[in-house]
Amino acid sequence: MENKGYLINEVGILGGNDKVKTNLFYLFYNCCKRGGEMIDTHCHLSKDDYDDIDLVIKENKEAGVSKMIVSACDKKSMLEIISLKDKYDFLYVTMGYHPSEALSVIDKDLQDLKKNLKLSKVVGVGEIGLDYYYSKEFIEKQKWLFEEQLKIAQELDMPVVIHSRDATLDTINILKKYSVRGIIHCFSGSLETANIYIKMGFYLGIGGVLTFKNSKLKEIIKSLSLDNIVLETDSPYLTPVPYRGKKNSSKYLKYVVLELASIKEMDPKDVIEITTRNANSLFDFNNK
Ligand code: NI
Repeated sequence: MENKGYLINEVGILGGNDKVKTNLFYLFYNCCKRGGEMIDTHCHLSKDDYDDIDLVIKENKEAGVSKMIVSACDKKSMLEIISLKDKYDFLYVTMGYHPSEALSVIDKDLQDLKKNLKLSKVVGVGEIGLDYYYSKEFIEKQKWLFEEQLKIAQELDMPVVIHSRDATLDTINILKKYSVRGIIHCFSGSLETANIYIKMGFYLGIGGVLTFKNSKLKEIIKSLSLDNIVLETDSPYLTPVPYRGKKNSSKYLKYVVLELASIKEMDPKDVIEITTRNANSLFDFNNK
């Protein structure tokens, strides 16, 4: 019960009604305090972002996160996570070159990626994709990099984590060419787009954006089944309310759970159970 003061504090921050308070109790005492089952399917964990990574990992575990899947999406972060991943049981990794890396990646880097993907605890390819918001100047290079990595994922039969920004149509058309499954990371499209991805067998990665005031995602989520959703933070970015503006960490995943529970009028325990089941069915944690 040592966290009771903290809990009341958190309720105060949210200022919710009795239902929200009950939900918070459930989440804190019945889920997190029992060791937790939440899986953060997408976060970043670089020394550039956190002064004390060991402390961050400890806090996340204490907050009820049972697995963190770290996305290493450039050469530097790949090396960093390779040296860290075996230190903690609950750390897993996806690796792949982000579209912003398209100009610097050469064939040799793709061969290195393929080797790294075979390492223990590396469970997927990503984040990979297209980002026309970042730059439209090298679209062809982005497409080349995306497709080369989809070929690797298909060959190794590994799930993909897709980054798509201002590039929905091209992303869908390219994905249709390959036999891959995975997550549309930080999904932010329309209901129609959501349904296209779901029909293609993808899960939608939902994180802190859902908690933002005026987020269009809230309305879209109402029409979707949780069977198609996995939890993610994209930390250190996109911190959920009530900590928006601060540095994100997997420990804040519970606020995404609470928002989902409130939108779907479900018990947070069930939100955790379903999203964790989804993540477990996509990623092969056992053989890695
Ligand atoms: Ni990311």
